[in-house]
Amino acid sequence: MSLQDNIARILISPAEIQSRIETLAAEINAAYTDEDRPLLVCVLKGAFLFLADLTRFLDMRHEIDFMEVSSYGAGTRSSGVVRILLDLERNVEGRHVLIVEDIVDTGRTLSYMIRHLNARNPASIRICTLLSKPSRRQIDVRVDWIGFEVPDEFVVGYGLDYAEEYRNLPYIGVLRPEVYRD
Ligand code: IMP
Repeated sequence: MSLQDNIARILISPAEIQSRIETLAAEINAAYTDEDRPLLVCVLKGAFLFLADLTRFLDMRHEIDFMEVSSYGAGTRSSGVVRILLDLERNVEGRHVLIVEDIVDTGRTLSYMIRHLNARNPASIRICTLLSKPSRRQIDVRVDWIGFEVPDEFVVGYGLDYAEEYRNLPYIGVLRPEVYRD
């Protein structure tokens, strides 16, 4: 049984992902100057492919750093408790921070990260997420760039996992519900 057999349908193809990222990057390029030199904060692990593709379309000066947060156990519903597993290496005081996320679901992870980063006095915080599930939002977070809105289904691929697998799929697909138990 291959990973692909557990995908009910493909939501977003590799070509659609690349084309949307190119558009997002053009907007992000226009929003910052070279002097801003924003720090892109990749939220691990889900955003690793998104960050890798986005950074190659950006032509303004910028740096990247990584944070790992966890709000899930092995299931498909957020536990609601956000833990920092890996913190930033760079100092964000006075810096323009751009958080690069894979998906905003309830909004809990992002709102926690914003509070955590704001306490370190950055010059600004903006948010770019590849995916958003607006119907699941519990906390209203202002997201500056959204790649795609997706329905309330559990999606995997292009960095997003179920129990640490499926991240390698080149597309975003809906996981067959019978694969997991909520
Ligand atoms: P939130 O805190 O509920 O907004 O959840 C955000 C995090 O949950 C994301 O960064 C993902 O890691 C994970 N997540 C939410 N929905 C999905 C999904 O459909 N597939 C895979 N991971 C998801």
